[in-house]
Amino acid sequence: MSEYIISGGRPLVGQVTVDGAKNSVLPILCACLLCDDGQVTLTNCPHITDVQYTLEILKLFGCETSFEDGQIHVDAQNVSFREIPCDLVSRMRSAALFLGAAIGRFCMAAQCRPGGCELGSRPIDLHLSSFVKMGLSVSDTGNVVECSGCAHGTDIFLRYPSVGTTENIMLAACRGRGIVTVTNAAREPEIEDLQNFINAMGGKICGAGSGIIIIEGVEKLHGVNYNIIGDRIEAATYLAAAIATDGEITVKGVCPSHLMAVTDLIVNSGGSVCRKNDSITVSRAGQFILSPGRIETSPYPGFPTDAQSIIMAMLLRAAGTTQIHEGVFDDRLRVSSEFIKMGADITVSGRTAYVHGTERLYGARVFAGDLRSGAALVIAALSAQGESVVKNISHIERGYNGFDKKLKSLGAEIIKLKD
Ligand code: EPZ
Repeated sequence: MSEYIISGGRPLVGQVTVDGAKNSVLPILCACLLCDDGQVTLTNCPHITDVQYTLEILKLFGCETSFEDGQIHVDAQNVSFREIPCDLVSRMRSAALFLGAAIGRFCMAAQCRPGGCELGSRPIDLHLSSFVKMGLSVSDTGNVVECSGCAHGTDIFLRYPSVGTTENIMLAACRGRGIVTVTNAAREPEIEDLQNFINAMGGKICGAGSGIIIIEGVEKLHGVNYNIIGDRIEAATYLAAAIATDGEITVKGVCPSHLMAVTDLIVNSGGSVCRKNDSITVSRAGQFILSPGRIETSPYPGFPTDAQSIIMAMLLRAAGTTQIHEGVFDDRLRVSSEFIKMGADITVSGRTAYVHGTERLYGARVFAGDLRSGAALVIAALSAQGESVVKNISHIERGYNGFDKKLKSLGAEIIKLKD
């Protein structure tokens, strides 16, 4: 297993440009399967393992693909229906979106339940019940899910603004027969990016970002060139690292309005924030990190669950006690035990972690359990005294391209050891 060796205690200073958003490029790649009249070119794509996995599945359907220097080409003009084997689907949660894309293209879909980060239960009941509402027949044997039929017009209310469910409905309905309205839809910026991509191919979707999305099915979708939005969670990672190490970092390539909850929290923690049109600069200017009190993760535009462990790492040495309540997933506080190995003082009760700020952290041998908590452990190691080893970094590489190189460019002492 690959690992990072990190010598902490140095401030990170400089400028870094984030890649295209993982949680935008993955649904958009699934949507490429719907393009039957021309080629798609995507730019600003991150070189991460989840993108490689997704390209493998597109090739299974018969797509021709290439990926070089951040540019992906997909030709889905000569594709045919396939059941996606379990080994391909089990590696990542976003593989569930091939259900909607296959329904949109073939009026049928078959694949195992998706895998992905261990964050607690991750059912797909909302996805499947939405397909049934659109008139599809769905059989769910517990391991393999099969759907058949073409999506027809209906009104769907989501009891929870699920990101993946919203995206699967958009993918299934954009080539369907009729108008589908989704109320209480997810409002994340990546949903808007998916809407804009499908519309650029000739689709008819409106309302993304507002909570009510209307999708009118069209006959065909044509080729397009499309640029992926910047990754707001990758940006949050570097901003938190600046505060945790008492440095100063400018993050470029991201829309500041996409991470207002994070930058607002940084200000409340004693940091200073300067926003420009496509960059954010943060520093602590030697001030102590202050506890911002209580943080609750919630659907966008609330505080993002994906930044929860990252901000916890930033606050491990904050003066006071911070309550961090995980309001989205039922088991996303496991990283606390790894932080404690570094000298952090954290107690967890249910879905709330109580982080009591400590004077300093110490280097330790810690294990990444998922993508975001792995990045959080790196932040903690950078702000600790001494040397840390972060194991299982393959989790981190699912969502961060060149993480060690970017941190090194900011002054971090970090070495990647391959297994
Ligand atoms: C997406 O996951 C993201 N993944 C996650 O990012 C992110 O944490 C999450 O949205 C929330 O923002 C991708 O975009 C690939 P949900 P998703 O459906 O779609 C429950 C990362 O690190 N739920 O909004 O799986 C579910 O159990 C990853 O980049 C149901 O109950 O998130 C969870 O508690 C981690 N039934 C809550 O909703 C369903 O049918 C949020 O899930 C679907 C979801």
